[in-house]
Amino acid sequence: MRTQRGNLPKPAGRTAKLTVYALGVAAVLACGAARSAEVEVLHYWTSGGEAKSAQVLKQMLDEKGDTWKDFAVAGGGGGNAMTALKTRVIAGNPPAAAQIKGPAIQEWGDEGVLVSINDVAKREGWDKLIPPQISGIMKYKGQYVAAPVNVHRVNRLWINADALKKVNAQPPATWDEFFRTAEALQKAGITPVAIGGQQWQDAETFETVALGVGGAAFYEKAFVQLDQSTLRGPTMVKALETFKKIKAYTDKAQTGRDWNLATGMVISGKAAMQFMGDWAKGEFSVAGKVPGKDYLCVPAPGSQNAYTFNVDSFAFFKVRSADVEKGQKDLASLLLSPKFQEIFNLNKGSIPVRQGMDLSKFDTCAQRSAADFTSAQAKGTLVPSWAHDMVDTPAVEGAFYDVIGNFWNDDNESAQQAADKLAVAAKTR
Ligand code: BGC
Repeated sequence: MRTQRGNLPKPAGRTAKLTVYALGVAAVLACGAARSAEVEVLHYWTSGGEAKSAQVLKQMLDEKGDTWKDFAVAGGGGGNAMTALKTRVIAGNPPAAAQIKGPAIQEWGDEGVLVSINDVAKREGWDKLIPPQISGIMKYKGQYVAAPVNVHRVNRLWINADALKKVNAQPPATWDEFFRTAEALQKAGITPVAIGGQQWQDAETFETVALGVGGAAFYEKAFVQLDQSTLRGPTMVKALETFKKIKAYTDKAQTGRDWNLATGMVISGKAAMQFMGDWAKGEFSVAGKVPGKDYLCVPAPGSQNAYTFNVDSFAFFKVRSADVEKGQKDLASLLLSPKFQEIFNLNKGSIPVRQGMDLSKFDTCAQRSAADFTSAQAKGTLVPSWAHDMVDTPAVEGAFYDVIGNFWNDDNESAQQAADKLAVAAKTR
């Protein structure tokens, strides 16, 4: 904070006292001003449930005396937001914080543009509050440069309860049951599966099918270790075939549809089921729907024992302002605070990333998610979501997106051809 003190004449007598007093007031005011920082935050939470969650963050930061400057870029999965971020960083004008995750945090760290918030993390004991699978992702060269806000489960199936009743079925636990139910729904004139034809949604659906068909060890070998023979092997081919079989149960108008509009189809009963991470719950909640009554949230077929995690986090960028730096630290501290973790995650559909929280206000979907997270952690079946930026570099992830998107859309490509392409895509630099 720069002051004009050097330019002031030397005070004398009573005037001097007043001047000293005035200077004191000015200093207090100046400090007060420094306490209120404008913190620009890039995020892509623009659907009904997401916007409500972002509002919680904005409000709680404002309550801390800082000012939230909204930098929202629409587009599920965050592809558009990442493009906007690059433009701003290249122009030398990054936002104070941006919603980025996984290996992208390391890539931004390599660019030298992130700032450490390790003092906040140390003071508040983050290493003890955050599961180790997640805290490692938030650090660059041993220093926290990002703060996580939640844990989303990706291997989920959302079902309209009435639609299921109409065909007298139970939530499908296996792929055979799933396709039998889909067939019955089709015959009853209900679109069995709602999907938005966007690459990240295709990729997410495929990721979930692959986990359900091949299990966590297969998933890990293929998508985390990028093992070539697993990528082109028979289990991958089976997963691709199962994924493609779903297409017959989706509608023709899917191209370009946003994920939340697909969720809307399940909410209204136009469609019966959707594969989607549990941010979908935010949409059901905004529509006033009750889990277990109006809709069901179950692990996707075959994946009951496994858990694909997707953690939203905010990384902090180097800025040339002491005020903003202070605001960044306020934000970092807020993100892990118990109050924020509770209110935000109640709206977002996810569960708190902060361990040891009381979950009594959360619904059965979230409570089951927390229990399954812990048991998957113990069993070694907790896997990161590659479709949601948690595993591979953005280059490999983008190449996987292309392969899966093309396979979904091109009815002449065989599953083996797509598997071979995945193996090639894994080598993208
Ligand atoms: C993010 C979620 C978001 C979803 C849809 C995911 O990648 O982790 O927070 O709600 O995309 O935009």
